[in-house]
Amino acid sequence: MRSRNWFGRKGKDGFIYRAWMKNQGIPDYEFNNKPVIGICNTWSELTPCNAHFRELAESVKRGISEAGGFPVEFPVMSLGETLIKPTAMLYRNLASMDVEESIRANPLDGVVLLCGCDKTTPSLVMGACSVNIPTIVVSGGPMLTGQYEGKSIGTSDVWRYHDDLRGDKIREEELLTIEAAMCRSRGHCAVMGTASSMACMVEALGLSLPGNAAIPAADARRKVLAQLSGLRIVEMVKEDLKPSDILTRNAFENAIITNAAIGGSTNFVIHLLAIAGRIGVPLNLPDFDPLSANIPLIANLQPSGQYFMEDLFYAGGLPAVLKELDRFLHHNCITANGKTIQENYSQAKSYNSQVISTTEQPFNNATGLAILQGNLCENGAVIKPSAASAHLMLHTGKAVVFENIEDYKARIDDENLEIDESSILVLKNVGPKGYPGMPEVGNMGLPKKLLQKGVVDMVRISDGRMSGTGFGTVVLHVSPEAATGGNFSVVQTGDLITLNVPQRSLTLHVSEDELQQRKQNFKPLPPIADRGYVNLYINHVQQAHLGADMNFLTGNSGSKVSRDSH
Ligand code: FES
Repeated sequence: MRSRNWFGRKGKDGFIYRAWMKNQGIPDYEFNNKPVIGICNTWSELTPCNAHFRELAESVKRGISEAGGFPVEFPVMSLGETLIKPTAMLYRNLASMDVEESIRANPLDGVVLLCGCDKTTPSLVMGACSVNIPTIVVSGGPMLTGQYEGKSIGTSDVWRYHDDLRGDKIREEELLTIEAAMCRSRGHCAVMGTASSMACMVEALGLSLPGNAAIPAADARRKVLAQLSGLRIVEMVKEDLKPSDILTRNAFENAIITNAAIGGSTNFVIHLLAIAGRIGVPLNLPDFDPLSANIPLIANLQPSGQYFMEDLFYAGGLPAVLKELDRFLHHNCITANGKTIQENYSQAKSYNSQVISTTEQPFNNATGLAILQGNLCENGAVIKPSAASAHLMLHTGKAVVFENIEDYKARIDDENLEIDESSILVLKNVGPKGYPGMPEVGNMGLPKKLLQKGVVDMVRISDGRMSGTGFGTVVLHVSPEAATGGNFSVVQTGDLITLNVPQRSLTLHVSEDELQQRKQNFKPLPPIADRGYVNLYINHVQQAHLGADMNFLTGNSGSKVSRDSH
């Protein structure tokens, strides 16, 4: 075990490694050949979705101790989606570096990742993959469903209430009451947003115990799962079951199929690509489309459907979804509990066909994910058909272009803006480098004057991302992004664009000659950071179709420490 190289030493070195640990009241026997298990904790009061994690860590510790391990909890950078500016995504790679280096540098034989709010899952999994010691994920669980005036509400309603406010249908004071009614318990967003999609992703990949994705944070069984995960990680160390044993190409394909069936977040694409890059599994953006194309939506969850994560749990949780997907999945992928994924879901069943349907009678035949190609997105773009409007799946319209988010905010409600419901909103410079950090602004709000006319959806295109809780006919992750000088950089107001989801294409009807001419006048944005992490990020972040990981972070360095100073 790695930890023996610290705690098993004699003389001065062993003294130093153990003595300072003993100031925490740890008896000698804890250092005696026990697997040392790190609990990588993203607890933070600034990450409200993860604010209950110290309690959850206690359950994990109980399990580790019970199994004969030595638990040690440590903090890592915690990314709270709602508060961090300019966007939590800017720091996903930084947090992954913190996780990677913290695991490798310390006397750990295995690690439990406590993940919840959106970026806290991919950053921890990416970091752990780059070390590749036995790892299990415990998600924090979703919030209980919000309740307001007899209606169930969740994060996706934020966008609706926002439009209602702009359309003068509700007043600011009412929003205050809605706030409290929506976030009424511990846990992460209760819809199939990015946090829930990430929790489903780790379960479908096999990195967690079965059932991890959907147990509400407030349900006592969340603590039971945490304790069982603590028990299991000690066994995983003994079996030397590492992420690289679990994260095979087939496991990634299972995750993609699952994400399509649950109407998971488009952010899933970007995070899964980054995770595959870390563990060394070849996975490309175009791979997502054929794997998702024939998978109907069988989980009726907002934003693609009607219900919430709490309902998914009562209906049988993710194992019941996987059971229904059996004919599409690779059955023999090994998972964290040592069993195959099929063994894990074989006894599962759907208890509520309103929430988990059959693949024969799905809620929506539109898949949860499509990858677009075309001259407006030379390296691809992403759309979530299950959360889009059927009448806009094949649409040609004139572009109304905003050069950046400030331009959008300044002009979108201008009475003189020439726009109607057939127009296509284009937002540039919200990509990885251009913003920087690729914020979730892709589902930009519609112009007030169209909202007041009753328009509820329009085609929107950007190089940014969309909240997993968002919806609409929204094309995202255009690559290469505007800041790098591709065709998307030179699209202009008035240009005709065709979105053709059935054909998976996104076409700018401007001749190649004209595009080349426009590019001669392309001026890259002036650099906005001359120092610090943002400088490092801008210079090394890769494009969306490569997972927006930094080029020097792709791959892994294993668990060996480079030098031994003692
Ligand atoms: Fe944390 Fe939605 S804000 S999961």
